[in-house]
Amino acid sequence: MPLPSQQASIAWTFHPHNATLDVVFFGTFISPSGWVGWGINPTSAEMTGTHALIAFPDPNSGQIVLLPYILDPTVKLQRSPLLSRPLNIHLLSSSATLYGGGMATVHNGATIQIYASLKLVPNKTKIHHVWNRGLYVQGYSPTIHPTTINDLSSTATIDVLSGTTGAGHSNIKTLKVVHGIINAISWGILLPIGAVTARYLRHVQALGPAWFYAHAAIQLFAFFLGTVGFAIGIRLGELSPGRVYGLHRKLGFAAFCLGSLQTLALLFRPKTTTKYRKYWKSYHHFVGYACVVLGVVNVFQGFEVMGESRSYAKLGYCLSLSTLIGVCIALEVNAWVIFCRKAKEEKLRRSEENNLTNPVMGAA
Ligand code: HEM
Ligand SMILES: *[C@@H]1O[C@H](CO)[C@@H](O)[C@H](O)[C@H]1NC(C)=O
Ligand SMILES: *[C@@H]1O[C@H](CO)[C@@H](O)[C@H](O)[C@H]1NC(C)=O
Repeated sequence: MPLPSQQASIAWTFHPHNATLDVVFFGTFISPSGWVGWGINPTSAEMTGTHALIAFPDPNSGQIVLLPYILDPTVKLQRSPLLSRPLNIHLLSSSATLYGGGMATVHNGATIQIYASLKLVPNKTKIHHVWNRGLYVQGYSPTIHPTTINDLSSTATIDVLSGTTGAGHSNIKTLKVVHGIINAISWGILLPIGAVTARYLRHVQALGPAWFYAHAAIQLFAFFLGTVGFAIGIRLGELSPGRVYGLHRKLGFAAFCLGSLQTLALLFRPKTTTKYRKYWKSYHHFVGYACVVLGVVNVFQGFEVMGESRSYAKLGYCLSLSTLIGVCIALEVNAWVIFCRKAKEEKLRRSEENNLTNPVMGAA
């Protein structure tokens, strides 16, 4: 199968009964001291996260060597040289030969074959593979490849069973972004705002029952949006079975369960006149706050999972959240001031009442 960039191609045999993939990649060098790499990304069709095999002439012997490298997120930053280390994927064997046999030498345009035998995850025949080539290897550390559009489009997703190519990459990326935005807004912003509405606006006499309608509308809308985001999350989980973000998933499920409980509980809300109402209210508060806390924590987990822990998106979210917290503190202080003033007035009223009633009692 010809690949979409760098005149590369691959050929493979897949053994479904033992999930073994024998693959050979054909690539070309672009300089006598360059490198050619091919690898598999268990998560998505991109460079970061790829487990790569990189071929280049050994700096000491001049013979072709093929070494394994993991392209973790720090590689793109180029803070330190890329060092070879064992792969986490099930690599049974690998080798590389220069086209033209043992006497051939690396030169610009020299063709290389990289062989690999891999054991895939059972029943998962769709793989993301990634390839590239660079001008120079420093010691045993390949240095950055050119970054033209052509060199950056050297990723593909194929089904090794049917041979079809899938456009999984951009789909998953959009899905991730949509999942992130929807959930940050619903679980991370709207639900907390709804809780704040109930906590502080109910005491504002001028508003009457309006706080209740605002609270109910915000929470129902947030939960609806959150359910959509949650469903997209489940779908994303299915699309990347190679990786399990344990904590993010568990927190997501927990938050969704609490949210559902909270919504279901609305159906069983006792009348204000019954004595069960106060138990229901405590329950409603407890589950509600737990849901808000889990939701917000999981938004931060999500930034972690997407590798966006230092992004403007996270900064934006932190700013929104801290604004909300600032408003909460102000409202909380305000509520206390009002509460204390009322308590004082109450006390004053009581003692006045006492002053009025006591003389009578004294007379009696
Ligand atoms: C020293 C090693 C490497 C460095 C410093 C490096 C650096 C980078 C950088 C900075 C980009 C993004 C460029 C942009 O968006 O403008 C990129 C993209 C890419 N790299 Fe590398 N790279 C290295 C090794 C590799 C290897 C070994 C492969 C493949 C086997 C590879 C495949 C790709 C691919 C396919 C892209 C485009 C897709 C993507 O951004 O995820 N890179 N690389
Ligand atoms: C898988 O099966 C193929 C042929 O059916 C065989 O050649 C290969 O050695 C097997 N691989 C493993 C790892 O068992
Ligand atoms: C893979 O699929 C086959 C049939 O579709 C099934 O019999 C087998 O149990 C599956 N294996 C795993 C590990 O899911």
